[in-house]
Amino acid sequence: MGKIILTGDRPTGKLHLGHFVGSLRRRVELQNSGEFERIFIMIADAQALTDNADNPDKVRQNIIEVALDYLSCGLDPEKSTIFIQSQVPELCELAFYYMNLVTVQRLQRNPTVKSEIQLRGFSESATEGDTTQRQGIPVGFFTYPISQASDITAFKATTVPVGADQEPMIEQTREIVHKFNSVYGETLVEPEILLPDNAACLRLPGTDGKAKMSKSLGNCIYLSDSAEDVRKKVMTMYTDPNHLRVEDPGQVEGNTVFTYLDAFSTPEHFEKYLPDYASLDELKAHYRRGGLGDVKVKKFLIAVLNEILDPIRERRHYFEQRIEEVYRMLEEGSAVARATAAETLNDVRNAMRINYFADKELINEQAERFRNSSN
Ligand code: TRP
Repeated sequence: MGKIILTGDRPTGKLHLGHFVGSLRRRVELQNSGEFERIFIMIADAQALTDNADNPDKVRQNIIEVALDYLSCGLDPEKSTIFIQSQVPELCELAFYYMNLVTVQRLQRNPTVKSEIQLRGFSESATEGDTTQRQGIPVGFFTYPISQASDITAFKATTVPVGADQEPMIEQTREIVHKFNSVYGETLVEPEILLPDNAACLRLPGTDGKAKMSKSLGNCIYLSDSAEDVRKKVMTMYTDPNHLRVEDPGQVEGNTVFTYLDAFSTPEHFEKYLPDYASLDELKAHYRRGGLGDVKVKKFLIAVLNEILDPIRERRHYFEQRIEEVYRMLEEGSAVARATAAETLNDVRNAMRINYFADKELINEQAERFRNSSN
């Protein structure tokens, strides 16, 4: 059986470098590797609504931004099916059946759900009138890991390339698959997570050195940022606060500029922009010894980032002039996704034996039973 990818993003904002190193770059490589029979890339608008119920317009506006980001990174609709989650209603039906296989207690233990409850200000104890907390946890939000299991299993995905924060979701999906298959018979495919292979990519810090790039912290470099935006953001980037003078020894660990170089720079970049150093290791060694200023390292990082972003910007510009076509591509992708999900839903209904009208055995059995009882 061929390998199948499903992955996706919530359309709550433009995609940034964290998305790029954490998943987008890898997706394009996987797409072009020819190793996968099918690839599905989903814009998870329904999931975005689980914690943006009061802001549907944000989600609606960002669908096209995410689609443009995908296309500009090199995702190719000829090779990958790009679709919108809400346009595949079969996913809801699957989720409804899976809900019976998951306990409230298990969802409460999901570490991503747990931290998001904090982050989003949903709280169990919030009382009416408390404006700092929203009033309790929406059921749709609480159960989104189950909906995510539908997204993955509907396409019989074998492989889910995502960031480390999604690990609990894949784990929960595997449990649901296992439970379903053991109750109803072998039907669903247990997916494997595919994590980024470079440690710096597991979680790219923001430009302020905070743990994660996030729109709300204002510490992102967006794929759609201009070269000048990138220059400014890198120049103000957090480094080693104790590295005051050029001659001071500097620290590379926890130094955001070096973390970005870990994630992005290649030996070719050194050859081209910083030929005095053969590799990142040499650059780091010099920084540690002292005598290497932040500005020099930052200038190198700017060159590296802009080299990576230039072709992305070019493709984005191209597709921005063809928005109607992009929507048409999404519509076609959604139709293809829907047909695939419908096949799985059919398998699920058969396995659960809720396919009453196709179930001749059931109909005969019942007919027999009633004939016998009326004799
Ligand atoms: N939860 C993912 C995120 O926030 C988005 C997502 C929804 C997803 N369904 C998915 C990712 C299925 C992988 C597979 O980024």
